[in-house]
Amino acid sequence: MKKIIIAIDGHSSAGKSTMAKDLAKEIGYTYIDTGAMYRAVTLYAIRHGCFSEERMDEEKLRAALPDIRISFRRNEAADSFETYLNGTNVEKEIRGMDVAKLVSLVAALSFVRRDLVSKQQEMGKDRGIVMDGRDIGTMVFPDAELKIFVTASPEIRALRRLDELKARGEKASFEDVLDNVKNRDHIDSTREEGPLRQAEDALRLDTSDMTVAEQKDWLLGQYNKITGSL
Ligand code: DC
Repeated sequence: MKKIIIAIDGHSSAGKSTMAKDLAKEIGYTYIDTGAMYRAVTLYAIRHGCFSEERMDEEKLRAALPDIRISFRRNEAADSFETYLNGTNVEKEIRGMDVAKLVSLVAALSFVRRDLVSKQQEMGKDRGIVMDGRDIGTMVFPDAELKIFVTASPEIRALRRLDELKARGEKASFEDVLDNVKNRDHIDSTREEGPLRQAEDALRLDTSDMTVAEQKDWLLGQYNKITGSL
């Protein structure tokens, strides 16, 4: 069967990555989490002194960019893909609040976006991928055969995020997480380069009142529909 590109964009914690991962597994495609790539660059920037008091030294990061290598490797035991930064597993570190607070600033830099977008295009050149992010259907693969835009209310998304943080043993208040969700929405949607917006030909899915299983079924249905018509 002809392999396609499935672009899943939308707001943070709307359920994109769970849906995308489940679908990729079901249909034997590669899943690529582009948010993890922006998070890995942010972690590198934190560790290499590119921030002081939440102000960023852009030139330092620009100079360091060629030294940042990001890859994904399968963890068979956990049945997941994990993010590596210059050969070291950083999956846990990139999911914490420290990175979450700064990642939107890094993701708004045009030199970072250009570098990561071209890496993402390279990863999908043979198609057969499910890629989740913010600008996949608009900038990375405007020709993707299936584009989905996923959203949910900020409160529901903050609750989901809080559950994830708690599960990993991190402490955070609902108010802090809600503020972070709203703040990231604002920065992600108003930045100049690759802003978060729904592609004209994307299908919109509001997951506020949906279970994970319902989301998975819906997405598989869309995939079957599109591949059946090719
Ligand atoms: O999906 P996520 O929450 O892990 O994404 C982390 C941040 O990276 C988020 O604030 C938006 C940004 N991002 C982006 O700008 N473009 C992408 N394709 C993916 C993520």
